[in-house]
Amino acid sequence: MAGEVSMIGSVILALFLAGYLGQQYLPPPKPKVIGLDLGTTFCSVGVFHPGTGDVVVIEDEDGRKSIPSAVSFTVSEILVGYEALDLADSNPQNTIYDAKRFIGKIFETGALEQESARYPFKVISNNGSGEFQISTNHTFTVSPEFIGSRLLLKMRKMAERHLGVLIQKAVISVPAEFDERQRNYTVRAANLAGLEILRVINEPTAAAMAYGLHKVDVFNVLVVDLGGGTLDVSLLNKQGGMFLTRAMAGNNKLGGQDFSQRLLQYTMKQVRQEYGVSLFLKEDTHRLRQIVEAAKLNLTLQPSVTIRLPLHLHSPEATGELQGTVPEPILFEVKITRELFEELNEDLFQKILIPIETVLAEGHLEKEEVDEIVLVGGSTRIPRIRRLISEYFRKEPNTSVDPDLAVVTGVAIQAGIMGGSWPLQVSAIEIPNRHLRKMNFN
Ligand SMILES: *[C@@H]1O[C@H](CO)[C@@H](O)[C@H](O)[C@H]1NC(C)=O
Ligand SMILES: *[C@@H]1O[C@H](CO)[C@@H](O)[C@H](O)[C@H]1NC(C)=O
Ligand SMILES: *[C@@H]1O[C@H](CO)[C@@H](O)[C@H](O)[C@H]1NC(C)=O
Ligand SMILES: *[C@@H]1O[C@H](CO)[C@@H](O)[C@H](O)[C@H]1NC(C)=O
Ligand SMILES: *[C@@H]1O[C@H](CO)[C@@H](O)[C@H](O)[C@H]1NC(C)=O
Repeated sequence: MAGEVSMIGSVILALFLAGYLGQQYLPPPKPKVIGLDLGTTFCSVGVFHPGTGDVVVIEDEDGRKSIPSAVSFTVSEILVGYEALDLADSNPQNTIYDAKRFIGKIFETGALEQESARYPFKVISNNGSGEFQISTNHTFTVSPEFIGSRLLLKMRKMAERHLGVLIQKAVISVPAEFDERQRNYTVRAANLAGLEILRVINEPTAAAMAYGLHKVDVFNVLVVDLGGGTLDVSLLNKQGGMFLTRAMAGNNKLGGQDFSQRLLQYTMKQVRQEYGVSLFLKEDTHRLRQIVEAAKLNLTLQPSVTIRLPLHLHSPEATGELQGTVPEPILFEVKITRELFEELNEDLFQKILIPIETVLAEGHLEKEEVDEIVLVGGSTRIPRIRRLISEYFRKEPNTSVDPDLAVVTGVAIQAGIMGGSWPLQVSAIEIPNRHLRKMNFN
């Protein structure tokens, strides 16, 4: 009798052990909530893998971790991301980008006409809201949230392909300065893409989370986001697990494209000095612009670069009928050092400190009281800009996460928390701050 009992006991124990071991070897559950960064120029999607504790930024079919925020309409289809960007030259009036600048926003009378003039596509006013007019074989209008929905749908598909499961839930980031209406329309864009939004988080908060700052003992976090065309500085306070945006300031007309423009102007001046003439072909200017952009990026890693390309130039003596013909190309070459690039842009770089000083003043903080500085946006890779900020604070900023992917990384962590797969139940809830306004220094 006693033997039978102990045998039953062993069987139960064995079953229990088998179950326990089985569970250990079971594949970890797949993430069900994705994190979305719907950016003005690029978008990314990420997930938090509970098994490994890693954030994965999901790649497209060609292995790229972000897609251009562009949507192009043709007679027969709607193209998204790189495919849309490829049509920007051949189908400019139907290739929409920068839609985020219009989402959920009401413009004053006349303001949309001015906006429209900046773009190759047509922006029209629907009672103050911007809409895009498309003309393929017929003419129709689409809303900014529709453009957003096509981008989000593409990212949802990328995530589904990566995970092999259907995705219906997401967390999404928005600029800290977005008002309630802009947030609502961003959520609407996600709904149109078949996604339920569990939480909307501010981009600077997401960037801070990418560095795990929601888990460590810090109080004041300063986030500097310098992209292609805009600078945003936010001062965050963390209280318990909650982030509060204390102050915001920025410059809507400062970014990477301004630094490239300075380099382009310098290069054009070199052409004039050497040959006494300006560029002749539009194609040459276009090509030079591309090479200058590449040179700027290379100068982050290399102490100097050489810009080299064939240019079609008339000699200064060429007059009369010669003016109308395309001249033979010459090979133009100019060496650019990092020091020269920094000199050309020093006054622009110094402007970065203005909104930083403003948020500190608004938050009644001395710069020594800032616990962590987080750099976001591709232009914060520029060594001089990093040095400027670390010298100002006498402290190294957090830069280990790719500055183009810091926001999506943080949103993915928040998505992991919302999906219940975060080991520690800490959550970075944001305390909404309705009275906050972003001050602009242009
Ligand atoms: C436009 O072209 C598409 C695809 O070729 C066709 O389905 C549609 O009926 C056309 N619309 C008009 C108004 O011609
Ligand atoms: C236009 O906007 C105003 C104010 O927001 C609103 O009162 C009005 O009903 C709107 N008109 C239309 C046609 O949507
Ligand atoms: C935003 O959406 C919420 C919930 O749907 C709604 O209560 C609120 O009125 C909306 N606000 C604006 C400004 O559209
Ligand atoms: C930038 O670097 C890449 C890769 O090293 C090189 O192929 C390219 O020619 C460089 N461009 C310029 C303008 O320096
Ligand atoms: C960056 O953030 C982490 C918190 O995750 C912190 O421990 C680290 O010291 C910070 N600073 C730098 C310069 O990396």
